[in-house]
Formats: sequence, structure tokens, C-alpha cells
Amino acid sequence: MPRPAIDLFRKTFGTTPRSVASAPGRVNLIGEHTDYNGGPVLPIAIAERTSAAVGPGASGDENVLEVISSEYPSVVRIKWQEELPKSWSAYVAGVMRELWALEVMVPRGSARVAVASDVPIGAGLSSSAALTVSVARALSQLAANEKPLTPRQLAGVAYRAEHDQVGVGCGTMDQTIAALGQKDHALLFECASLETQQIPFRARLLLVDSGTRHDLRSSELAKRRAECDEVVRRLKVELPELVWLASWPVEWLPRLKRALPEPLRSRAVHVVGETARARFAAQLLKQRKLKQFGQLLYESHESCRRLYECSSPELDTIVAAAKRAGALGARLTGAGWGGAAIVLVNKTDRRTIPAIERAFQRAYGRTPAISEVHASAGVRTERL
Ligand code: GLA
Repeated sequence: MPRPAIDLFRKTFGTTPRSVASAPGRVNLIGEHTDYNGGPVLPIAIAERTSAAVGPGASGDENVLEVISSEYPSVVRIKWQEELPKSWSAYVAGVMRELWALEVMVPRGSARVAVASDVPIGAGLSSSAALTVSVARALSQLAANEKPLTPRQLAGVAYRAEHDQVGVGCGTMDQTIAALGQKDHALLFECASLETQQIPFRARLLLVDSGTRHDLRSSELAKRRAECDEVVRRLKVELPELVWLASWPVEWLPRLKRALPEPLRSRAVHVVGETARARFAAQLLKQRKLKQFGQLLYESHESCRRLYECSSPELDTIVAAAKRAGALGARLTGAGWGGAAIVLVNKTDRRTIPAIERAFQRAYGRTPAISEVHASAGVRTERL
């Protein structure tokens, strides 16, 4: 899998890379828009990965990054301390800055980076975290620091690169699963306490790409984050020690509803409800109660659709068709406003896929791409 990145590096820079790493995309099983509210998430890493091949910068270069990707195949040259480009390469520059802040430095502050990926961009599968985490691992190895960065440290570097440097209003879920994912496991990650638990996950899970890529996504995400901040500000009047919205006790929902006007009330009810659902879902998964687990996926989708208003008509069509066909559960995954849905089905199920295809065809005149996803490994160093 890292081959295309290595080949691209060789072809572009006329030399062999020094270090190669890869990291996966993800789907989130449940716990949507909870991470930046201090709640739990339950993602899996998927088989699609991004690989980064890196080597030292050209002789004479000081604090210069030269980056290229198979997607945008012309070299971008970045004085990464002075500027952050407006393209995908900003993520690479962001990683470099965050590594620098940890004193993990490549010689002369210069490096060449070639990236290749089979994580679809904009499908809500977190191609950006796959990029930042793989680049963070590859560059940190080039720096040859005494102690290699742990997966958690890599997730931190990648999160700050995307959130603090590039300015995306993301939480910590995507980078954490890209770093800590394990084959055949889902990761329960409590975003406030930072506790993690690996939970076996071998169920049959379909990924249905709605084929819509909403530019809305980042602006709507930023709007929701601002609304959640406003909710916390107001709820502090009721409960002064409240830091995270997700910590609001679920049995105090009536009080929360009284304290907030719309749309803040709906946003807050989603986050508090989704927090309880995700924790319960993790318990059910541990006990292999897939049917009840699936039911919570449907409930989560309904809450995303009605209360958080982050679904889309295409995603709703997929989930409704899955439900009618008798699938165990289905919901949008990731930020929403387009992107993909997950559908949990029995191993022997033969009805759900054609049912979704038919419903989607009827509504939109095309069939959506449907694939099976398997919980896969997080970041790893690749052999050259
Ligand atoms: C995006 C963000 C994540 C998370 C999800 C919603 O994917 O990058 O951190 O907030 O939305 O759950």
C-alpha cells in the first residue's frame, strides 16, 4: 500500500525516501458531535489508508517543505514557519509546526514529502486525519529523536495541526482513531477524561456513500461549535462547575430544556442524549448484543437529523431504506451534511443492499457506492 507514495517520492525528487508511514481513515459507529463537547465516541479505523514518504530537504534549504500528492501532482514549496498555504499542503505544514513545538525537528527544518491515499476525500471518512497522522509519524522518524512519539502524541500533533494551525473546527476523534485503531476493534474514547477502551468489533458493516460532498460541512460545523459554546455559557448559570456540555446529567434534561431557547435546546438535547447512547452502545457491543446496539444507531441518526440538523435528504433515504429492509441499524457517520452512512447487517442479509439501491435510484436517479468495512489498524511505520 505505501508503494505509490514511495514511487511518487522517487519520481518527483529523484532519490529514495528515508521514512514511510501510513494511517487509516475512519468511520464512527456512534457518538456524533460529542467529541468537542467532551463526550464519548466509538469509531473504527478502516482499511483505506494514506501513506507519506519523506526524506531530508534539498541541500541549501532552510526551513522549507516540498510536498506533493498523487491527488495534486505538482510540488508545493512552503516556508512553513512564515506561511500556511491555502491548499491541502497546509496540513503538512501544520504538522511540521507542531513537531517543532515539541522539539521534534528534522535537520535544517527541511523535508520532502510525497503522499498517496485511497481514503476518499470529502466522503466524511476523515482523509485529513489520515494525512496528518501519517505525515506526523514519517516526519518524526526523519527527525530521529531519542524517544519515538507515542501514538497518543502523534494524535495530539495531528489534532493541533488541523485545529490550531489550519483552523478546522474538529474535535479529537479522527486523529485519535487514526493513531490508536486496532484490527477487529472499535475504540471507545472519552474525549474529556481521555480514557480509551478497545472493544472487539467483527460485525458486518456496510458503508454507503451518498455521493454528496457538501461545502457546507466546515461552515455548519463551525456554527454548531459556536452554538454548543453558547449552550455551556448559559448552562453555567444553572450549574457553575459545568465545563463540558456532555457532562450535563441526562436526568436533568427537563431543567436544560427550560433554560435554553431554540435552536440551542435541540443542539444540547442531542449532545446529552448522544453521550448516554454512545456509552450504552459500547456496553451492548461488549456484550455482543448487536440487535440492541443497532437500534441505538437508528436513534442516533434520528437525533442527528431532527435535533442537530446535520443530516441530508440522501442520507435519510439510505437510513430509511435500510430500516425498511430489516437492517440491524443505520446512521450517518462523521460530521454529516452529506458524506456517508453506515448500515449494520446480519452476516446472512441479502435484502438490504438491493433495497437501498432501489430506494436511492428512485429518489436520485443513480445508485450509491456500497462497500463493506472492516475494523483495521491505526498508524504504522512502513518498510521501504
Ligand atoms: C468531524 C470532526 C470530528 C467530529 C465529527 C462529528 O468529522 O472532524 O472531530 O466532531 O465531525 O462527530
